[in-house]
Amino acid sequence: KLGKKPAGAPKKSLAKDVTKVGVVGAGLMAAQIALLFARRLEVPVVMTDLDEARAQKGVEYVRGEIDKLKAKGRVDDIKAGRLRGLVSASSDKSVYADCDLVIEAVFEEIGVKKAVFAEVEPIISDDALLVTNTSGLSITEMAADLSKPERLVGMHFFNPVAVMPLLEVIPTEKTDEETLATAFAVGKKLKKTSVMSADRPAFIVNRLLGRMLGEVARAVDEGTPVEVANLATDPMGLPMRPFELLGLVGAAVAEHLVTHLHEDLGDRFPLSANQKRLAESKEPVFAKGENGKFHLTEHGQGLLEQ
Ligand code: 3HC
Repeated sequence: KLGKKPAGAPKKSLAKDVTKVGVVGAGLMAAQIALLFARRLEVPVVMTDLDEARAQKGVEYVRGEIDKLKAKGRVDDIKAGRLRGLVSASSDKSVYADCDLVIEAVFEEIGVKKAVFAEVEPIISDDALLVTNTSGLSITEMAADLSKPERLVGMHFFNPVAVMPLLEVIPTEKTDEETLATAFAVGKKLKKTSVMSADRPAFIVNRLLGRMLGEVARAVDEGTPVEVANLATDPMGLPMRPFELLGLVGAAVAEHLVTHLHEDLGDRFPLSANQKRLAESKEPVFAKGENGKFHLTEHGQGLLEQ
């Protein structure tokens, strides 16, 4: 724990109330974030995606997770019913008009994120916050075309969102104190440990992860057997082995991350032919076993052995 007031957080009294949340995107990360906001803030959460069917799928995921919480006795029947009712789907972004905070968790491409904010900003109220869950793209660049760049802040969650304790809060030079204070206040209500990162490529944690997963993939590039490379982090006592973590994060997401780091920081983040092969595979390279853990599929294993 990092003390009561996170380093860099403005006065709590500057934080705005958040009484309704919008989530843009309904993929796994977005749905996990929607669940967390509904569960911890107990406010309505509305999700949109490219179409209503996708948004509805995100809502179904959230409701499924609420049922699991109920089955485990973590929430009672009444609360489970209430939480289920708090989350809804729409295809129409006008549902964000009365949200105090809209967070995007769409595809990790700067153009896609900017297009989302260009569409959403004219809809939301003057006081509402815009938040990005980017894993490490430039938030300053996302703010460049906003009419109120001071309302944009990064809140970077980690997968699985329900259990990972950390939240990176990333202001740009233009982010105002109310926005930053609100991000920290919300982080606290979400029961996360918030740390402030500068707006630098991949912030703090994903630089470390990018380095670690990249080095393991390169060990395989250079002839280390996959199984051996996968055991290499055991002495560090990490909760997941590299190729399980890569399965959880997703090979494509990890490749995007490391490609951006390579573009920004050059040889500090060399690319791996194997990581690229996994990311570009048309067939699944990871599967989830009965024990709930990710493992390489035969196809994934074969690609690494090329
Ligand atoms: N969704 C929801 N809950 C989950 C979950 C999931 N995907 N996976 C595990 N959990 C829950 C379990 O249900 C269990 O909850 P319970 O106590 O209520 O029963 C609890 O987490 C512990 O799970 P397990 O006992 O099954 O397993 P472990 O003790 O091995 O813990 C873990 C699982 C917490 C996921 C642990 O393996 C871990 O910390 N792994 C590292 C994950 C990590 O590094 N994530 C960061 C990825 S990078 C990222 O997200 C950034 C992005 O920008 C790329």
